[in-house]
Amino acid sequence: MTSEIKISKVKESKVTQVDLDNVTMGFNFTDHMFVCDYTNGEWQNPRIEALNLIPTHPAAMALHYGQAIFEGMKATKGQDGTPLLFRPDQNAKRLNFSADRMGMPQFPEDLFVEALKQFTAIEKDWIPTKEGSALYLRPFMYADEPFIGMRAATSYKFIILGSPAGPFFSKKIKLFAENKYVRAVNGGTGEAKAAGNYAAAIRPTEYAKAKGYDQVLWLDAQDFEYIQEVGTMNIFFKIEGKFITPDLSGSILAGITRMSVIDLLRDKGFEVTERPIKLTEIKEASANGTLEEAFGVGTAVGIAMIEEIGNDDFTLKLPAENPVSNMVNDTLNAIKVQKAEDKFGWIVEAK
Ligand SMILES: Cc1ncc(COP(=O)(O)O)c(C=O)c1O
Repeated sequence: MTSEIKISKVKESKVTQVDLDNVTMGFNFTDHMFVCDYTNGEWQNPRIEALNLIPTHPAAMALHYGQAIFEGMKATKGQDGTPLLFRPDQNAKRLNFSADRMGMPQFPEDLFVEALKQFTAIEKDWIPTKEGSALYLRPFMYADEPFIGMRAATSYKFIILGSPAGPFFSKKIKLFAENKYVRAVNGGTGEAKAAGNYAAAIRPTEYAKAKGYDQVLWLDAQDFEYIQEVGTMNIFFKIEGKFITPDLSGSILAGITRMSVIDLLRDKGFEVTERPIKLTEIKEASANGTLEEAFGVGTAVGIAMIEEIGNDDFTLKLPAENPVSNMVNDTLNAIKVQKAEDKFGWIVEAK
């Protein structure tokens, strides 16, 4: 296929109708979308065009069999106003990992990054500049072949949308340690960013919220004994000055923020270990006063401090001070707007 992206811009941007200093992620969408079609065994016709409805056949296979995957990332602006992306190559790789698991075609990684760059450059006026804000980018792929029957589809769409986003959880969060429902099991699809994983999490998250919690803390599907991850975040604990985070056991999403936070913490001289973590270990550390900090990390939220973990059987309060987590949050945010040196080479200019 030709990877030249055809561009048809809107005559007038809607950005003036949106207060970028007061936006909530997911409600407003930018003027354009990137679209690419997979037919006859190859990706075709990459284009950036006006955001619009897409006619969908009622038998489109994604609607029935769930071949749908997505990514999430954020564009920011550097100090000179240049639009910036954070590790888009990692999102490209993860999308293809998800595609492989779900029997979907690979999307060329260079086209993925190029499409994001061109899309972000065109939508740069939609990037909010208030601290902690960004333009959320949502690349996704779904099966659009009209067919009823269980097999991989033969046609797909890959699309990128943009939605300006304010700072996510500015408050500390309470986690419900889920002991009835599970998110993922080894050999399942938990490692993939598959739409169905999120569908399965909706009802348990509603139950957790009804009990006064913000998010679900997922435990392992076997024994509800090991900590996995949180809603749309990976999780870190600091015990006696050292950090631990659950290892990528086969059912946890390999977060790009997670891998970046591990690098940042090690660079600052902290020991970080990826290993299985039992809930009882965290309870014990809390009881004996060695649990110092706990936080969730993910693109949508950045770093979210955790103030409480509990369920109907226990409540565990976390220390109020989060000095290292705050430092990591500030460093990551500063790198993303080029206020701090990008010594890891994570930032990609979108121009
Ligand atoms: C289930 C889940 N875990 C973890 C994360 C964090 O991943 P990332 O840091 O790449 O946003 C996300 C968000 O994408 C997620 O949906």
